[in-house]
Parts: sequence; structure tokens; C-alpha cells
Amino acid sequence: MIVTTAALFKVAYGKFAVGAYNINNMEQALGLFQGHMEAEAPFIIQISKGARKYAGIPMIEAIIRAAEKLYPDVIYAVHLDHGDEQTCYDCIDSGFYSSVMIDASHEPFDENVAITRRVVERAHAKGISVEAELGMLGGVEENIAVDEKHAMLTDPDEAKTFVEQTGCDSLAVAIGTSHGAYKFTGHQSLHFDRIEAIQNLLPNYPLVMHGSSSVPQEEVERINAAGGALDPSARGVDANEFQRAAQLGVTKVNIDTDGRLVWTRVHREYFHDKPAEFDFRKPGTVFVAEYAKFIVDKSERLGSVGKLAETRAGVS
Ligand code: G3H
Ligand code: 13P
Ligand code: ZN
Repeated sequence: MIVTTAALFKVAYGKFAVGAYNINNMEQALGLFQGHMEAEAPFIIQISKGARKYAGIPMIEAIIRAAEKLYPDVIYAVHLDHGDEQTCYDCIDSGFYSSVMIDASHEPFDENVAITRRVVERAHAKGISVEAELGMLGGVEENIAVDEKHAMLTDPDEAKTFVEQTGCDSLAVAIGTSHGAYKFTGHQSLHFDRIEAIQNLLPNYPLVMHGSSSVPQEEVERINAAGGALDPSARGVDANEFQRAAQLGVTKVNIDTDGRLVWTRVHREYFHDKPAEFDFRKPGTVFVAEYAKFIVDKSERLGSVGKLAETRAGVS
């Protein structure tokens, strides 16, 4: 059942985080739905501009609808990830999306406000909620000064003003994470002091954490042992910190890179071990099972495992 993102946030806020996963193909959809059924966890499917281009807009929507026929009991929202203004309008008008993200974080503050406000007006007229972004989402490297690190994080006062001026329903904040496999040099913690400061000014307001993949070292090592050439210094977010962040208002946790690593590990190992094989359905089947397992593990870390009944009661 597709529900509004706002309804999921209402159930989850302060208690657990909802995993938001990007999908691009059928195998990811199968693993995503199967894993969430097993975990009994609600979730958010994210579609990026790149995914809309790769699969084609009707195809990506049809894949999701078909997956729901196979797993009719799951509860999820459909979200546009990192949209520009026009793509937000296209998704709002399509009637398929529960929420859109307008990413104008690269613009100066006032321009970000103006663009986000326009999208909020169009989205709210159709009952769709809007995620916006404020701050510089970037790898916070160990070798830069503490002051410099803090300057890259979302400023709590600015966040409050931004939300008041735009009316956006959730905010992606820079709290020490970045996209992709190369987030940090060495282990780093989320900036809990900053999350708490934002929550103090925006109580009961859902925050979003982008760049939340963990980039497990074992995954990187297995990919490289099977012929890959990923930089072994790749590091990600410690998934054991998700629940503490959730208690401080981080209600949506975006994960894409880790799923790509599962795909790459499964396919590299399969064809490395069976070089004469060319039936792609065989590694595809392995991937669906491994991806479902991965989703169960993430749901445990997010605290969303076993929350399906509570979510069903909360959204109906
Ligand atoms: O944050 C971006 C997501 O990982 C989606 O990536 O734009 O390559 O589909 P993509
Ligand atoms: P990762 O690259 O850490 O998976 O982040 C994904 C993301 O933020 C999608 O919006
Ligand atoms: Zn992102």
C-alpha cells in the first residue's frame, strides 16, 4: 500500500527512522519488497532523475506497482530523490509520488527559499509533501579544522528560518555525511551535537539524513578480491548510530551506495567463480536474496523492524 510520506513520519518520529532506498531495476524492487516483508518494516522508495532516465518513467512506476502485487502487505511511500524544480512539478502532476525532494541547496539561501516555496505551493495543493535541503552535504575529512568542519554543517538558526519561510515538510541536513563510497578517512561519528541543536529549534520536525550508506569494509574487500578496484580506504556511516539519530528527529535515512555494493559483490563473485556462465538470471536470483537480507539488517539498525502493524494502524 502506498501511503503519504507525512503519515510514515508521524508514526516514526522520535522512535525509529524510515529507510529510504533508491531503485533502478526489477531485481532491486524484488529484494526491497521481499526484505521489508520479512522485516515487517515500512519504507520509502526513492526514484532519482537518473533512475527515471535509466528505466524510463512508465517502466519504473510499473516495476513498483508489479512488486506490490507480489507483496501486497507492505507499506511504503514513493519519493522523488534530489529533484530540480521542473522534475518536482512533473512528479507532483503524475499522481504517483507521495513526496518530492527539491534540491536547491547549491543555491544561495534566499534563492533556495524562493525555489523551495514555489515547489511547496504546487505540492501542497495536491496533498504531496516536500523535502528540501539546507547545508553543504560533504565529506568532513579528519584533517580539516574543527571550525571549518562546523561551517559545513547545517546551521540550526538558518534551518529554523528556512522551514518557517518555505513551509517544507522535512529537511535534509548536513550532519557529517556525504554521498557515495568515499565519505571519510577513518572512522567518524555523526555530529549529534548539531542534530540536537537543530531538534531543539525544530521540535517534532522530521529531519532527513542523506549519504547514510555504511560502505562495509568486508563488502569492499570481497568486490576487490573478485576483480574490483575500489579504493580500500572507502568508509561510511556507522549504522549503529541510526537509532540515536532517530531519537533526535532523524526520521528518514537515505541509502543507495550500499545496495550498489551488494549488486557489484554478487555479480563480480558469480562471474569470477563461474567464468563460463552467461545466464544472468542466476546471479540475479542471488542478488534478490542478498538484497532482501541486507534490507532486513538495515531495518534492524533503523529500528523500523516489526513496525508494520503499528504503521498500518497509524496510517489508516
Ligand atoms: O544521492 C543520489 C542517489 O544515490 C541516486 O543516485 O542520481 O545516480 O541515481 P543517481
Ligand atoms: P549514499 O550514497 O550514502 O547511499 O546516500 C544516498 C542518498 O543520499 C540518496 O539521496
Ligand atoms: Zn541524497
